Amino acid sequence: MPAVAVAAPRGMLVPVDGAILGIETSCDETAAAVVVEGREVRSSVVSSQVDLHARFGGVVPEVASRAHVELLTPVLAQALVEAGVDGPELAAVAATCGPGLIGSLLVGVSSAKALAMAWGVPFVAVNHLEAHLYASLLEAPDLEPPLVVLLVSGGHTMLVLMEGHGAYRLLGSTVDDAAGEAFDKVARFLGLGYPGGPAIDKVATGSDPEAIRFPRAMIGEGFDFSFSGLKTAVINHVRRHPDAGTADVAASFQAAVVDVLVDKTRRALHATGATAACLGGGVAANSLLRERFAAACSEDGVRPFVPSRAMCTDNAAMVAAAGWWRLRRDGPSPLDTGATAGLRLPVIG
Ligand code: KG4
Ligand code: ZN
Repeated sequence: MPAVAVAAPRGMLVPVDGAILGIETSCDETAAAVVVEGREVRSSVVSSQVDLHARFGGVVPEVASRAHVELLTPVLAQALVEAGVDGPELAAVAATCGPGLIGSLLVGVSSAKALAMAWGVPFVAVNHLEAHLYASLLEAPDLEPPLVVLLVSGGHTMLVLMEGHGAYRLLGSTVDDAAGEAFDKVARFLGLGYPGGPAIDKVATGSDPEAIRFPRAMIGEGFDFSFSGLKTAVINHVRRHPDAGTADVAASFQAAVVDVLVDKTRRALHATGATAACLGGGVAANSLLRERFAAACSEDGVRPFVPSRAMCTDNAAMVAAAGWWRLRRDGPSPLDTGATAGLRLPVIG
């Protein structure tokens, strides 16, 4: 029988031994992973639905939920077999309970609860944004809070000060589009296909990032972001200059996004005095952002940590890692915990 965690007294962490099965189905990746004590990844299986949604130019929620239903069982089986672990040996089953597409979330949450009950192990509900924060700590366990994390995904863009485990301060977030959303919308307009981020990243390589000077909204002020004006500026530019080279437009757009993201991270580091900074979320897979983020932090005497690309985009290893910390802090989640599409990162203040 695995050690079953109980809620820790405030501020304390209860030891949890063993492996956690993580399940991620918040959007268009069906993923399962087994991670030991928040650090050692025994298996991490990700089945992407990208090809299913590509013909629609974006994720179709109903198609995504149905695909999760079909894909989750084989993905789970592979994760357990690769890890060499049987369900009842697990310390817990953790699943993303939000934010995300409600139908997709429900597939993962319901499966996790059913498995936890059948195996007699605890269930842990994990916030997807918290999981992205823990991706860096999974790959660099020596990183210690306070940390500044730039979390940039398809649905979110935020600067978070991680003061301790489970203690987050939201420094800034987007007032309109998320960075990944801007990549996806601009790529669609430029005819580069879906998903837009990797397409722009690829076409921008070797092109001129200074060909067009697109606006850098809200640069140099506060920690909030705005990307919707930039998207409109790209559209207006291409309409006015139909001969503009697509690769140069893409490179100039990418440079504008990265300039703002790096500038705000630097400001956050100066304001908080944090000595390390991490990247997280799908947009953190962007080549220019990875390079510029690391260079800016090093220049400012701060330790940068840029997770592997596989750990930036949605995966279940980060869910299992965040689940391990959550279980140590709060104990198991009640089995009536639901899925919440608009779940927010729990923040202090
Ligand atoms: O974190 P994620 O996998 O899913 C969400 O939680 O949203 O992020 C997906 C987002 C998409 O908008 C995708 O276009 C973007 O991450 N993305 C990238 C790159 N790879 C993925 N954006 C820019 N450059 C990339 N290489
Ligand atoms: Zn994500």
